[in-house]
Amino acid sequence: MDSLNGKKIVLGVTGGIAAYKAVEIASRLRKAGAEVHVVMTREATEFVTELTFREITGQPVTVDMWAKVTNFNVEHIALANLADIMLIAPATANIIAKTAAGIADDMLTTTVLATKAPLILAPAMNTNMYENPVTQKNIAELKSRGVQIIEPASGHLACGVEGKGRLPDPAEIVRFVMDFAAGEQRLTGKKIIVTAAGTIEPLDPVRFLGNRSTGKMGYAIAAEAAKQGAEVLLVSGPSSLPDPAGVRTIRIQTALEMQAAVQEAYAAADAVIMSAAVADYRPKTVAKEKIKKSDDELVLHLERNPDILYGLGQHKNRQILVGFAAETCNVEEYAKKKLVKKNLDFIVANDVSASDAGFAVDNNRVQIYTRDGGCEKYPLMSKQELAGIILNKIAELMS
Ligand SMILES: Cc1cc2nc3c(=O)[nH]c(=O)nc-3n(C[C@H](O)[C@H](O)[C@H](O)COP(=O)(O)O)c2cc1C
Repeated sequence: MDSLNGKKIVLGVTGGIAAYKAVEIASRLRKAGAEVHVVMTREATEFVTELTFREITGQPVTVDMWAKVTNFNVEHIALANLADIMLIAPATANIIAKTAAGIADDMLTTTVLATKAPLILAPAMNTNMYENPVTQKNIAELKSRGVQIIEPASGHLACGVEGKGRLPDPAEIVRFVMDFAAGEQRLTGKKIIVTAAGTIEPLDPVRFLGNRSTGKMGYAIAAEAAKQGAEVLLVSGPSSLPDPAGVRTIRIQTALEMQAAVQEAYAAADAVIMSAAVADYRPKTVAKEKIKKSDDELVLHLERNPDILYGLGQHKNRQILVGFAAETCNVEEYAKKKLVKKNLDFIVANDVSASDAGFAVDNNRVQIYTRDGGCEKYPLMSKQELAGIILNKIAELMS
């Protein structure tokens, strides 16, 4: 998509030396067809004037939350509601920290907190500020919530040092927004179920059988699908990750609970991505009281849990079904068998014995096997990137 026709973009401008570049960003967004509403921090007005943005965008510019409201459209919640996309460029270390912490002490931060629109930040600052662990922690926190971060460029900074922290060229930033908007629409109106994390199967009131899945892969897929416009239901086993923005999240404990939640939504779903590590077995009986230790061996009797994905495959009509195969050996053989047996459209297979990929880490290295016998091998990549690849394949199959 080469245009932002009719898109309402709220452009936040903060008090960095690159604020002057936001003028060209606003201009390019407008030329691409967007309606641009600029919100400046007070500090940003030290670098560029409101008047410049008003002339460039043809819209009122907001700075002060307490200014007399002459146009209802600039009232603080109105801008949050109106935005299709919210872009902050340049984003200072300060706005990044405030956004990560949920602070709303001026018009821009209040709008950020109030909006449900996807948020894109373009950090720009001195290299030391950028590399400071607290800034990196804030950026990681925002990414985990589905905020898009446009990586700063490296080079000569205004403060005289060489390093990372420069705002990329306005043309690149606008290209990012266009790509994002194009991707966002691919799954609009599609209903997607994602399962994530491991199920836990109780033994007694204090103990359970579980596995090492943290949910990172499934949460990344759910967040990305929501960003691409899908209506997403995330059915998650216990995970310390926060609910992804724009996703309906149901938290369950056991395989039976996961099955019930998925089955309820299945008939209306367009695609199901089963990335959860569902326990194959559960204790046959759950002790009512805590099991006491004795000097004898303890024998546990386990019974089979339902194979949720197999069940979905049996009742498949138009749904696209995607499975995951996390194996420690013979990955290809197991994955191909699973693909056929469960009636899947494709399966994402990985060797979870590798220490740099798979469970509990941010990266994954996978092969994708398809129904037509195809196999695509991917290098080590972030789970977010992989989520994009999986959803691209789903979007292609849907079209
Ligand atoms: C000349 C000058 C340039 C600055 N450039 C930056 C910058 O590029 N990035 C940044 O994060 N902060 C920069 N700062 C510091 C911010 O202006 C300061 O942290 C301010 O509180 C940011 O407010 P805001 O985030 O509400 O706009 C600069 C300050 C001055 C005086």
